[in-house]
Amino acid sequence: MFNVHKNLRNLVFISFLGFLILSLGVAIFPAYQMQNNTAPLAEMEPMSEAELRGLHLFIKEGCVACHTQQVRSIEMDKTWGTRPSIPSDYYYSKQRMDIWRQSPSLLGSERTGPDLTEIGKRQPSEDWHLLHLYNPRIVVPASIMPSYPWMFEEKTAPSEDEKVIPVPAEYKKKGTVITPKQDAMDLVAYLQSLKQAALTGQQPEFIPSKRKKLEETIAAIGVPGQKQLPDGKNLYMATCSACHQANGTGLPGAFPSLIGSPVVNDSDPEMLVRIILQGYDARPEFAQMPGFADQLSDMEIAAVANHERKSWGNDAPEITAENVKKIRDFVKDQIQ
Ligand code: HEC
Ligand code: HEC
Repeated sequence: MFNVHKNLRNLVFISFLGFLILSLGVAIFPAYQMQNNTAPLAEMEPMSEAELRGLHLFIKEGCVACHTQQVRSIEMDKTWGTRPSIPSDYYYSKQRMDIWRQSPSLLGSERTGPDLTEIGKRQPSEDWHLLHLYNPRIVVPASIMPSYPWMFEEKTAPSEDEKVIPVPAEYKKKGTVITPKQDAMDLVAYLQSLKQAALTGQQPEFIPSKRKKLEETIAAIGVPGQKQLPDGKNLYMATCSACHQANGTGLPGAFPSLIGSPVVNDSDPEMLVRIILQGYDARPEFAQMPGFADQLSDMEIAAVANHERKSWGNDAPEITAENVKKIRDFVKDQIQ
């Protein structure tokens, strides 16, 4: 009856059946089960209209070619998030784009640029993102990321309530200002929304790397009881240099220079520490600085402040974590 040598219909039918069973077993049932088992985390907020439009632009512009959005459960990925990613993290971004199109996976496989899982936390500044999209070289001189100028407009006479981004003169035509289109605002809203939501209960863990263990052992052998400040230069490069630049020069019209800055060099560190804790938006000629109270510990703030106070020709007395703690306690009510 199933003579596939003589009856070609049977051959087609049997191979189709095999294909069907395999597809169901390997792809469709597991995906269905996964989808039913995944719920949004308590702390996650549904995406706003603007963020959703931003997500679609992220897909359209092909950002996934160079950026992952997955924190793998191995120690080297700790830089990109506080915990490994889980399926629920993608709950809202995996909604269908429209009736014809499923949302493509944004987990990504290439890290030509950094992972973006926590970019909303790592870089909360809207102005920074807009400058970076307009031309990444403005804020990261050695960047190889493409520019996205079609999301911006060159104007000679912007209306008063229009947002103008602080593009330095050498990156635009004389007499023009650069304003973001709705697309740029939406994409930035999406990037700012990228944060890991907290998990209650059991945390997924990172698989420790062997090399790290060795480093920890070496660190533990160091002088017992002596609390050493972390490396201020590394912290500065990771948290401040995106705006103030590696050599402290800042960017004219966007981010102030820290070289010779009276705030940095003041022997009383209060203003400096308050700016790092609370952020700063005092002058119209500069963009806005986000606060780092949630991100940096007292020891880290002391280390980064000392790096600024002793680099690029600056010379002010070093401060301690206790100095920072006092100021943090004093301004606590204002931070929340
Ligand atoms: C050709 C590869 C490439 C493409 C395509 C690309 N990027 Fe990037 N991106 C990079 C590289 C490299 C960096 C690191 C240097 C820098 O900050 O500019 C980066 C950095 C970033 C950062 C800063 C990350 C951080 O931790 O500071 C953001 C945000 C970002 N890209 C967003 C985007 C968005 C949004 C798109 C799509 C519109 C995009 N990128 C497309 C390569 C790319
Ligand atoms: C997203 C960009 C951004 C990041 C990141 C950033 N800053 Fe700022 N910073 C600014 C802007 C913009 C101002 C000026 C705000 C104003 O005057 O309105 C500023 C001002 C300052 C000032 C005052 C300088 C002066 O002379 O007036 C200090 C000090 C400072 N930042 C230190 C830091 C430190 C330390 C870090 C890292 C922990 C940091 N900043 C990270 C954007 C940034």
